[in-house]
Amino acid sequence: MKILITGVSKGLGRVLAETYMAGGHQVIGCGRDPESILDLRFGCDESHRFDIVDVAQANKVDVWFETVDASHGIPDLIINNAAIMNQPRNLWEVPTKEFHQLIDVNVKGVFNVIRAFGPAMVKRGTGVIVNLSSGWGRTTSPQVAPYCASKFAVEGLSQALAAELPDPLACVPLNPGIIATAMLQQAWGDEARQFPSPAEWVTIAAPFILQLGRKDNGQPVTVPGP
Ligand SMILES: NC(=O)c1ccc[n+]([C@@H]2O[C@H](COP(=O)([O-])OP(=O)(O)OC[C@H]3O[C@@H](n4cnc5c(N)ncnc54)[C@H](OP(=O)(O)O)[C@@H]3O)[C@@H](O)[C@H]2O)c1
Repeated sequence: MKILITGVSKGLGRVLAETYMAGGHQVIGCGRDPESILDLRFGCDESHRFDIVDVAQANKVDVWFETVDASHGIPDLIINNAAIMNQPRNLWEVPTKEFHQLIDVNVKGVFNVIRAFGPAMVKRGTGVIVNLSSGWGRTTSPQVAPYCASKFAVEGLSQALAAELPDPLACVPLNPGIIATAMLQQAWGDEARQFPSPAEWVTIAAPFILQLGRKDNGQPVTVPGP
C-alpha cells in the first residue's frame, strides 16, 4: 500500500512510517525538522519519499503534491498526523500568535493536504483519509482550549467530508489514545511517562489503521488500548 503520513519527524508519525516501511509498504512522509527528515530520506530506498514540508503552508503542500504525484503517484492512504500542542494556560492568556499557529497547523494543515491530494483520490475512485484527532477532540480539559478547539474542528471536518466522499472512499477521525510522546510531555510534564511508548502503541495502531475504510466512514474511531 502507498501510505502518506504528515509529521514523521518524531512521535506517532515516525513509528508509523518506520513500521509501515518494515512491513513492505511504500511510505511518503513530511515534517519540518530537516535533520529528522534527511535521516529518514537517506536511511531508506527510493521507493519511499521524505520531504521537508510545513503542512501549514498551502503553496508548499501543493508543490509537494505535484512532486509526489510525479515520482510516486497518488497514495492509497493519507494519515494527517502532524499537529502541535499549546503551552498549557488559560485561554485568555494564550498569545495570539500561538493560537493562530496552532490552528494553522492542526486545522488548516489537514485542509491543505486534503485540498492538494483529495481531487486525485476522488478522480481515481479509491482512497482512505485518516485524520488524527484526540480525546480532546471529543471532551475537554482546562489549559488546552486551543488544542481542543483544533481537534473538535478535525472531528467536524472529517465527518462532513465523509458525507461528501463517493463510495468506496472514506474519511475517519482517529483518536490514537494516550501515548508518551513529546507532545504529551508538553501537556502533562513527567506524568506522560506512565503511558505506553510510541513503540508499544504502534504494534496495535499500525495494523488497526490499515483496516479502516468505508465501514468507518465519518465514525469517531479510537485505537484500541494495549
Ligand atoms: N501523544 C498523544 O497522547 C496524543 C493523543 C491524542 C492525539 N494525538 C495526536 O496524534 C498526532 C501525533 O502526535 P504526537 O504525540 O506524535 O506528537 P509529536 O511527538 O509532537 O509529533 C508531532 C509531529 O508533527 C510534526 N509537525 C508539527 N507541525 C508540523 C507542520 N507544521 N508541518 C509538518 N509537520 C509538523 C512534527 O515534526 P516537525 O517538528 O519536524 O514538523 C512531529 O513529527 C497529533 O495529531 C496529535 O494531536 C496524540
